[in-house]
Amino acid sequence: MPELQEFLVDQLKDLLSAEGQLVKALPKLARAAQNPKLKAAFQKHSEETKGQVERLKQIFEILGESARAKPCKAMQGLVEEGLELLEEGKQKDGAVSDLGLVAAAQKIEHYEIAGYGTVRTMAEQLGQKKVAKLLQQTLKEEEKTDQLLTQLSPPLLERASMVGEEEEELVED
Ligand SMILES: [Fe+2]
Repeated sequence: MPELQEFLVDQLKDLLSAEGQLVKALPKLARAAQNPKLKAAFQKHSEETKGQVERLKQIFEILGESARAKPCKAMQGLVEEGLELLEEGKQKDGAVSDLGLVAAAQKIEHYEIAGYGTVRTMAEQLGQKKVAKLLQQTLKEEEKTDQLLTQLSPPLLERASMVGEEEEELVED
C-alpha cells in the first residue's frame, strides 16, 4: 500500500474514534442546552453524526480496510473540556451556560473541519473519487453546523452581557 494511503487510513481511524465519541457527547450537550434553537441544533447534529460514522464505515469498505477506530486523544480532550463547561454552566445563567456549550462545540467542529479537509484532499490526490466525495459531504455538514452555531450566538451574547448588571448597580447605590 502506498504510504499516502496508509496515512489516509490512519487519519480515518482517528476520525472514526472522534465521531464515535461525539455520538455519545452530543446528546449530553443537547440535554444541557437551554435555548430551544441551540438544543435543536445539537439534536440535529447528533443524528448527522451517526450518519457520519456510517459514511466512514462505507469508506473503509471501499478502501478494503477494517473499520477499526484509533483512539483520538484530541477529541477526548475537547469532549472533556466541553463536559466541564457543561457542569460549570449549571451554576450560571442560562445564556452564559449556553455560550459555554457553543464555545466547546465550535472547537469540536473546527477540529473536525481540519481533519476532514485533510483526508478529503489526500483521497483526491490518491484518485479515490468516491471516497473524496463522501468525505466532502461530511465536511459540508461540519461547516454548516459551525455556521449555525455562529448564527445562534448573538442573542445569547446579548442576554449574557446583561447578566449581573443589576446586582452591580445595587452595589454602586
Ligand atoms: Fe462529525
